[in-house]
Amino acid sequence: MQNKVLIIDFGSQYTQLIARRIRELFIYCEISPFNNIPENLDQFKAIVLSGSPFSVNQKDSPRINLESFLGQKPVIAICYGAQLIAKTLNGNVENSNSREYGRANLSFIDSECKLFENIKINNQVWMSHADTITSLPDGAKLIASTDSVENAAYCIESLNLYALQFHPEVFHSENGLKIFENFFINEFKFVKEWNPESFIDRTVADLKDQLKDDKVILGLSGGVDSSVAAVLLDKAIGDNLFCVFVNNGLLRKNEYEEVLEQYTGMGLNVKGVDSSKLFIESLDGVIDPEKKRKIIGNTFVKVFEEESKKIENAKWLAQGTIYPDVIESVSVKGPSATIKSHHNVGGLPEKMNLKVVEPLKMLFKDEVRRIGKSLKMYPDILNRHPFPGPGLGIRILGEVDFESVRLIQEADKIYIDGLKEWDLYDKIWQAGSILLPVKSVGVMGDERTYERCVALRAVVSTDGMTADWYEFPNNFLKEVSNRIINKVSGINRVVYDISSKPPATIEWE
Ligand code: XMP
Repeated sequence: MQNKVLIIDFGSQYTQLIARRIRELFIYCEISPFNNIPENLDQFKAIVLSGSPFSVNQKDSPRINLESFLGQKPVIAICYGAQLIAKTLNGNVENSNSREYGRANLSFIDSECKLFENIKINNQVWMSHADTITSLPDGAKLIASTDSVENAAYCIESLNLYALQFHPEVFHSENGLKIFENFFINEFKFVKEWNPESFIDRTVADLKDQLKDDKVILGLSGGVDSSVAAVLLDKAIGDNLFCVFVNNGLLRKNEYEEVLEQYTGMGLNVKGVDSSKLFIESLDGVIDPEKKRKIIGNTFVKVFEEESKKIENAKWLAQGTIYPDVIESVSVKGPSATIKSHHNVGGLPEKMNLKVVEPLKMLFKDEVRRIGKSLKMYPDILNRHPFPGPGLGIRILGEVDFESVRLIQEADKIYIDGLKEWDLYDKIWQAGSILLPVKSVGVMGDERTYERCVALRAVVSTDGMTADWYEFPNNFLKEVSNRIINKVSGINRVVYDISSKPPATIEWE
């Protein structure tokens, strides 16, 4: 690719947002932690410096070799990045006493400056810093101020450098995307080449090259990521891709049969393995959520390994890992830089002695969906709500057995069907039902009942890290509650969860 951008991460909570904004402009970018920058910078056409929780005046604050790119390629420096350059090039950065956090307005903009083309004075930006640039670096020109921060943005034209004290990547910066567009597209003539079609063509060609005639195994989950990975691999190597879809008995009602049928309809070489009984029996008497996760994960590995042995000479294990799972996060406390991992099948490749192929590992979730759309995959699969790997196992609070699985599957089906019927499904990021480990008294006809209670959960979110509960129309809740209580014998009470994350979590276990 001609137009790659490198984002150097100094540990800001907003670094992933920078990447998302740039990719929204159809420009490809990658994030590297400041202490692990790729050696070959020639492959990048521009550099972005992120913010940081550190102060540049702290002794152990992150440092990089600015000389390796400054003046050689365009740079946009945000917050800490802007301060780092100011400090390095003889400017001054001081603690401002008053921490600036939140909305501010650009009360001065240099109207000649290309970065602010078509951006009006007083537009809102998002500030988040304790330090202030009190004098600009050598050769810098002031290009924007707010009422309380004079040096809100500067540029050094001879270096093709723009530096912003505020955060254009944050949604609350009204013209943030426009600022990036002005920088990349208008000023430095980046070509918009990052789109689903180009990704698919390149990835399929690369996979063919990498895998040749090797056999590859992939565990399908019914979710978006593994499904899109499967279709890409299928395009590249056809029937040398062996997909395995395991029924752990903890999927939604009918999901195993329906999804398997869809996969077959998509022409995938897929084998369904129904191990429901094994999974549910292995959970017998277990109530601790983490133990449940471990048991379900281990049982999956066992089943999957068994199936894989039947595919002779398989060399690769494919996984639907996506970018947020692999971005190395910069550690802000001590040296223990961590790598995020959210694999339910962690350890599988080593155990099975297979090489790993991860065709989606540079993509964000919304990009995976767009690629799936471009591959003409069923909207049903692409728009499916996220569903945890341990499935209903962690939505049945307390003990899991065949009867509790039946109860929650029935109630959940009524709820999810209701969401679709009322056109609410696509407005919600994730919805599900939780079977509570309590019984309560009810009355049905002339009889008193003493049965289980179901909690309904529905949240809006962008990435699952934070979430707000969804405000349903009352009539919807009334209807769903009636249907569940009337149709699912064993449940006599329905409640709706009105907790946001944080402080609650999305799942109850
Ligand atoms: P929480 O409950 O932590 O959930 O707010 C955030 C997102 O992660 C999903 N989740 C899991 N996904 N295995 C998974 O694959 C798990 O063990 C697991 N636990 C939670 C949850 O459904 C939500 O989308």
